[in-house]
This record gives sequence, structure tokens and C-alpha cells, in this order.
Amino acid sequence: MSYFRENIEKLSGYTPGFQPKDTNVVKLNTNENPYPPSPKVARLLAEFDINRLRRYPTPLGDSFREAAAEINGLLPENIMCTNGGDDLLTIVLRSFCCSTRSLVYPAPTYSLYEVLAKIQDCPIVEVPWLDGYRLPKKELVDAGGALTIVCNPNAPSGSFIDPEEISELANLLEGKSVLLVDEAYADFAQDNCAKLINKHDNLVILRSMSKGYSLAGLRFGYAIACRELIAGMLKVKDSYNVDALAIAVATETIQDQDYFKKNVELVKEQRARVAKSLESLGFKVAPSSANFVLTQVQSGDASDIFEKLKERHVFVRYFPYDGLRDKLRITIGTPSENDRLIEALKEILSS
Ligand SMILES: Cc1ncc(COP(=O)(O)O)c(C=O)c1O
Repeated sequence: MSYFRENIEKLSGYTPGFQPKDTNVVKLNTNENPYPPSPKVARLLAEFDINRLRRYPTPLGDSFREAAAEINGLLPENIMCTNGGDDLLTIVLRSFCCSTRSLVYPAPTYSLYEVLAKIQDCPIVEVPWLDGYRLPKKELVDAGGALTIVCNPNAPSGSFIDPEEISELANLLEGKSVLLVDEAYADFAQDNCAKLINKHDNLVILRSMSKGYSLAGLRFGYAIACRELIAGMLKVKDSYNVDALAIAVATETIQDQDYFKKNVELVKEQRARVAKSLESLGFKVAPSSANFVLTQVQSGDASDIFEKLKERHVFVRYFPYDGLRDKLRITIGTPSENDRLIEALKEILSS
């Protein structure tokens, strides 16, 4: 006898990337930013009045809402703070999906979508990306979901869909499905969909503070949408889903745009350099608009190289799924971390 609902009993659960205890390793497996958060955060933490923790935080994270609205050229009513981007994914699944309202997404993509749908007991339709990771618009519409998710840039491919195409898809889905564009990696991309918010009443954008802003440990993200969708989703979120300290740190961080832009540029420069080095070693590298690259090994399964990198204390990500077994996803690190990766690969290939 199980105390759990049947779908939970059957669920394998999401497997987060490995978090090694040893800090003297090259950790390129969970797409974190290799640079520290804004130095202004250190000052804020040193001066933070602990008495503020005695009270509950503002339920909507007002200061962050205002800052994020200004940076995206929108209104605070267009923003909802979340406990990481993953919290928003839980909120949208709970808001729009159930056993008679399905989730649709192009695959392969972020594997958490499937897990959250199973928890919600909602049917899932996975639509394969078209060749070269082009958007299968017609197939997504025909699948008839109540919620459609497009990850852009996509994980783990790093591929990018132009906002104009996303807008066409939102039009095709109007009146039928909410379209969530997961922009967790948009900070490293050539464009994003924020400008579409005032054009579509069925569009939600996910943003994360974990990647471009170096705050993965804090857990902070946000939704951008028209005010009606935000108002509806606010009913579903936990009353205090972001804490007082996190609101203060995230607000300070998003306001330091100079520091953020400088780090993003460094990561993009290194992305080009890592791709070139991998190609010179005989790996294929798909063009990436994110802070990682997906690379195909010369032949066979990539698990062997993955294990040998691990023995050399270099952690990358291997996905034992169809279409991905011959590939590794490698987060872009600092120049010296990237050097250690390339040196380790040279050693493995020559042994
Ligand atoms: C595609 C994608 N979306 C959303 C997230 C959620 O990020 P977080 O909850 O750290 O903001 C991640 C995290 O790795 C991701 O890869």
C-alpha cells in the first residue's frame, strides 16, 4: 500500500546536476555563472538589518518588481517574482494544466517540464524540433495544449528562435493556449521576447537570476506577462514565495546593469573560444546563444569522455537520452577553467 497518489508513486523525479563538495574542481555541469554576484551585494549583506527578518516580506517583492519592470520597459503589474525560474514553472503548470488540459513542448528540452506535468497529472505532448532546432509551429498548435512551453535559448541545445517566430506562434495559439517562453538563458542571447508582452494576451516569459546575474544559490526569478495573466498567477503562488533577504539581494543585483553586462560579455567571448578549441580537437559544436555549448564527440557514446573528465575533476553534463548520448553539455567557465577543460580533453584523446 502506498500513501502517495498513483502518479507520484510512479514518478522517477527530476535529477539535478551533481553538486560536488570539493570546491577545487572545474564545475561546468549546471550552467552557473563563473563570476561572483555584483560587489554591491556584499555591501548590502554587511549592512542588512536582521530585524527585517522578524517580519514577513512584501508578498509581491515590490522593490524587485519595480526594478525589473523598469529594466524591461514595462510596468510592475507585468512582473511576478518567483523563487527561481523553477517556481514559475510550478505556478504555470498549476494554473493552466490538469488531467484534461495538456502540456505541449518541442523536445528535447529542459527535462523538468515533463516531471512537473506528471506531478500535475496532466497529459504531455512532446513535439520533435524540426531539423536544425527550428520551431515546429504547426505541430505545436495541432497538439492542442492548454499550455505550450518553448525554451529559448533551448537547453541543452543552446539553439535560438527569433522573437518574430515566437510572436507568430503566440498568434496561432491565441484563445487556445498560454505560451510560456522559458528565457532562463536569454541574458546570453542576441534578442529576447519582452517587447512582445504588450502584443499578446497569452504570452508568459520566464526569467532567471541564476545565470546572467550569478545568483543560482539565492533562488530568484520572475515572470513577465500582461497584467491579467500576472493577476491570475498571483492567486496560485505561495503567499510569500520570495523571502526578504532574497528580494533585497535580487533588487540590488538587477540594478547593477554595468556589472551584469560586463560578465555576460566575458562569458560570450569565452563561449566562442571554447567552441573553437573543441572544434580543433575534432568535436562538433552546435551554435549556442546560452552560457553553455552542446558538443558531439567524434564517435560513439559520450559517457566514456564524461567519466574520464570526472576522474580529472572536470564536471560536465551527460544526458543518457535518445539523440543526446553522443553529446556533452559544457557550461562556459572562467578562462582558466576552460583551459583546464581543454587540457583534460587533449590528454583523454591522446591516451
Ligand atoms: C531551461 C531552464 N529553465 C529554467 C531554469 C530554472 O532556473 P532557476 O530555477 O535557477 O531560476 C533552468 C535551470 O537550470 C533551466 O535550465
